[in-house]
Amino acid sequence: MSKNIYLPNYEHSENAHIQSMEQYRQMHKKSIESPAEFWSEIADQFYWENPYDVRNFYSFNFNVKSGPVQVKWMEGATTNVCFNLLDKNVRRGMGDKIAFYWEGNDPEDYSKITYKKLLEEVCRFANVMKSKGVVKGDRVAIYMPMILEIIIAMLACARIGAVHSIVFAGFSAESLAERMADCKCKVLITADSVYRGDKLLNIKNICDSAMERCQNFGHEVQTCIVVRHLPRLYRSTNHSNGTNGNASDVIDLHSDVSWTDGRDFWWHDEMDDVEPACYPVWMSAEDPLFMLYTSGSTGKPKGVLHTTGGYLLYAATTFKYVFDYHPSDIYWCTADVGWITGHSYVTYGPLANGATSIIFEGTPFYPDNSRYWSIIEKYKVTQFYTAPTAIRALMKFGEEPVKKHNLNSLKVLGSVGEPINPEAWLWYYKNIGNERCSIADTFWQTETGGHVITPLPGCTPMKPGSATFPFFGVNPILLDENGQVIEGVGEGYLVFNKPWPGMMRTLFGNHERYQSVYFSKFPGYYCTGDGARRDEDGYLWVTGRVDDMLNVSGHLMSTAEVESVLTEHPDVSEAAVVSRPHPIKGECLYCFVTPNSGVPFTPKLSSELIKKVRENIGPFAMPDVIQHAPGLPKTRSGKIMRRVLRKIAINDREVGDISTLADEHIVDELFRNRPEKT
Ligand code: PRX
Repeated sequence: MSKNIYLPNYEHSENAHIQSMEQYRQMHKKSIESPAEFWSEIADQFYWENPYDVRNFYSFNFNVKSGPVQVKWMEGATTNVCFNLLDKNVRRGMGDKIAFYWEGNDPEDYSKITYKKLLEEVCRFANVMKSKGVVKGDRVAIYMPMILEIIIAMLACARIGAVHSIVFAGFSAESLAERMADCKCKVLITADSVYRGDKLLNIKNICDSAMERCQNFGHEVQTCIVVRHLPRLYRSTNHSNGTNGNASDVIDLHSDVSWTDGRDFWWHDEMDDVEPACYPVWMSAEDPLFMLYTSGSTGKPKGVLHTTGGYLLYAATTFKYVFDYHPSDIYWCTADVGWITGHSYVTYGPLANGATSIIFEGTPFYPDNSRYWSIIEKYKVTQFYTAPTAIRALMKFGEEPVKKHNLNSLKVLGSVGEPINPEAWLWYYKNIGNERCSIADTFWQTETGGHVITPLPGCTPMKPGSATFPFFGVNPILLDENGQVIEGVGEGYLVFNKPWPGMMRTLFGNHERYQSVYFSKFPGYYCTGDGARRDEDGYLWVTGRVDDMLNVSGHLMSTAEVESVLTEHPDVSEAAVVSRPHPIKGECLYCFVTPNSGVPFTPKLSSELIKKVRENIGPFAMPDVIQHAPGLPKTRSGKIMRRVLRKIAINDREVGDISTLADEHIVDELFRNRPEKT
């Protein structure tokens, strides 16, 4: 074995679910060779209204050439995910256990909710949605901050069989409109406002504008339900008792929230007088549970669809083993519920295990740069799951903010969203984990539903930067450009040749696109779009996207998506966007822009373009550089040579062979035009 291996802490391994690599290998082997046996033993721990048939536990076809791609687990069985997460735990005597501690943006603003109370609130809200005409199969859009109501809303959907489509509340009105129109949602659930650090954002206004734009796409949202979050915020900034109970004691700040009568309803008004019980709708295991949009390389977002039974098993099982969860643990995932990490590892995975979690509304930098560490100390967090971009941003402030806090409760640290560079890994390991905690570098995707390549904290010897080995049921394969399997040491396309229960089933309303994006490049394989390397010890190292996607602070987006916004500007003739490494964000956007003939490239145009991207996609997509490109490096057939642009972005003159370019001179000109000296 090579050097730079970090062994799990023996003290933690002793009590871990999986204590040795031998045990892991045996379980992994069984999960691959006898999936029905492996997963049905897990399924037994959940409630099924109609039982599954072990002899017909799953079926699939990954080969486009032999018919439509399909994946099915436990077809014919019926259950309800919300019932398994809440009723089942309450019936097991866990009604008084805390499901969530809510920590607001302001440290004085916090609350908590038990399993029993959560069940009641979910039932109430399920009844509210029923009163608005929502029935099984209807889509419900959710655009909300990190408050308890977002969990309540999603579980209420699951209870009545509505399909939630959460849009991260950092997306613009345009992006929200496009997503709402695509899924034809009946209802939109939102909040009035949210503080981000010390900035107040009125998100109801964004929703109003999105609902208006939706009509341009020929769709009308019938109902909008709005959580009144502002009084809580207002009170917290006025230093009252910090709980978020009845808001009647505070000044009503809502006269400035715009309202459309007949369409808009306050959450608290609707919840006032409804029954706290709601019988669950029994769903077939293959009925949709939720959809979640993710960027596509052609620009138009893809509505990844997850179904009921398989997703439940997979979110629950990955949560249990990857975080080595035990009943007295306090778990915290910092991801926003608007991303898949928030779905699987803030809501579904933890609740399926009866866990106590923290949900945090704020940022790591407010009121100061030790906020994460102070929350870990406050709640005695045992598992902490965050993104490399956050770790890198916090590393900048050194060890002082960390040292102010006692982080001894921690056992497992998680990382997600992008490759973690060894430097950040080591900082996390040494300064946050005090060299006692395992790091779970979890590789997965919106599409995979849960972790697919990850260490297990009690057993896997870790290498900084490697996601290590596959989770149960996952069989990773590396292929070369010709589709030949690479055995042993090597690097290639990361693909899978068999399904695990939690993988996506289709793209909403577009099975063709599902087949062509994920299954057509190498028939018989699900293609992740990532590259990976296998080292001499069999460890997998995910090297990043092999398509035109980029990952900015863990947010996946396509270059085409940004290009289409840039070229919508009336003064722009052409645009090409590439990714450039960034010390904190991982990658950032570097845009080459060709103005229309006769139009000068000015700082004004540049700032208008940045603003436009911000408004059309969201603040997280803001370009770092807009460079004037009198022309773009194109082949004679007109294809933009992006590898040349990537070299220009990092000022690397080693551009390789450019003899196929229609005009080689443009490359020199673009180097001269770089707005930065270095
Ligand atoms: O490129 C991989 C990267 O993030 C992509 C998936 O993004 P998304 O669907 O938004 O889901 C993010 C949260 C699961 C992947 O195709 N990625 C995610 N985690 C890792 C990673 N790359 C390397 N290592 C990881 N641990």
